[in-house]
Amino acid sequence: MRQYRIPVTRIEGHGLITVHLGEDGRVREARFHVTEARGFERFCVGRTVWEMPALTARICGICPVSHLLCSAKAGDAILAVKIPRPAEKLRRLMNLGQIVQSHALSFFHLSSPDLLLGWDADPKVRNVFGVAAFDRKLALDGIRLRAFGQEIIEVLGGKRVHPAWAVPGGVNHPLTEEGRDRISAKLPEAMRIAQDALALYEEKMGDWTEEIEHFGKFPSLFMSLVAPDGSWEHYAGHIRFVDAERRVVQDELDPSRYREYIGEAVETWSYLKFPYYKPYGYPEGMYRVGPLARLNCCERFGTTLADEALRRFRAAAQGKAVTASFHYHYARLIEILAALEKIQELLADPEILSPRVRAEAGINELEGVGVHEAPRGTLFHHYWVDETGVIQRVNLIVSTGHNNLAMNRTVAQIAAHWLRGREITEGLLNRLEGGIRAYDPCLSCSVHAAGEMPLKVVLLGPDGETLAERMRGA
Ligand code: MG
Ligand code: NI
Repeated sequence: MRQYRIPVTRIEGHGLITVHLGEDGRVREARFHVTEARGFERFCVGRTVWEMPALTARICGICPVSHLLCSAKAGDAILAVKIPRPAEKLRRLMNLGQIVQSHALSFFHLSSPDLLLGWDADPKVRNVFGVAAFDRKLALDGIRLRAFGQEIIEVLGGKRVHPAWAVPGGVNHPLTEEGRDRISAKLPEAMRIAQDALALYEEKMGDWTEEIEHFGKFPSLFMSLVAPDGSWEHYAGHIRFVDAERRVVQDELDPSRYREYIGEAVETWSYLKFPYYKPYGYPEGMYRVGPLARLNCCERFGTTLADEALRRFRAAAQGKAVTASFHYHYARLIEILAALEKIQELLADPEILSPRVRAEAGINELEGVGVHEAPRGTLFHHYWVDETGVIQRVNLIVSTGHNNLAMNRTVAQIAAHWLRGREITEGLLNRLEGGIRAYDPCLSCSVHAAGEMPLKVVLLGPDGETLAERMRGA
């Protein structure tokens, strides 16, 4: 747990939500401000493409594995190589381990206190210790499931946090038989935990109808990678956009040409950019990424248990997209199950132990894009290099960034529904925080740690005057 925490020195400022009232006293808009720029794109200039996976893994203490894999993929493009099949399988295995550990952290550690203890519970008990007192088995399950995902990363990469294991052209070392068996031995327990958590969510869902309706329920586009046959994909494939009706808006988009269909808007009040779907313009081109988007975009998982769960997930939406951001939690639990089933398939594949894991090559392209599905959504690394492989320019679109417009829309919806008069109640503060948390934003990629984010909410009148403010966790 400890090594995933962001050092305090990297935390500056705090999460800030401003709620703007109109002349009529009603909520006009709300803004989720991201108030610190990290400047990582500039910081990488002058390093080599081979250094980038390990270097960019240090962008973020929460999702180093995601940056590592995405950077290695950008490096593959610059070497212009097709990596050996076993290397791709091993990278997939690590990404699945990352999905399991990250989703487990989000659900069990960060969100289960809200879900199980309630939005109006005292913040002193509405935490992971409160959950342990309420349901000890669930709390222990969360720790074990997360440890399973971390162990996969550790078996492959050697260390949990910054494994410089994926490299341009493949991976540094193969998986041993012993390593494979270590993972296999713990898989049945992980499966049991994932199924129990999903059953718990489906059982409790009826208690959360008001939150499901108002924590960011609105039509939008959804974007994710999908496999060539339309199946759920987390590592390769092409980009698909679907709308709120679950109609395919655009498909088979080349991820390396993302700038043709993704624009990056800037607002003066936030350092985090606002990506949008270019053909629809800004801000109408709002789209969501991550677990909810991946489930809305794909046709199927292609695994037994996850596909059964996907059918249940879709049943209530009657073939349309699930548009309630609250159900990011639901989608996350289904993805854990799918990831475990896919881990099982990979471990059963004899090729997973092959020693042929790296293609050697020099610089063959001066520009390369890496893209994959990080737990929180689609991640882009785009590098420009000189003839010797020295980085000239970098553009990153972090997963959390894609959801920026939707997160802002979500806090406005929550404020409009739960604000009474001019008072920022504890219940409103909790729900605003919970609404943001549904997206599981990694503010570390752009600002600071989620989950431990000190949050300030300010209520502003029609002339911008402060009417009330409330702060927690500073
Ligand atoms: Mg950028
Ligand atoms: Ni991150």
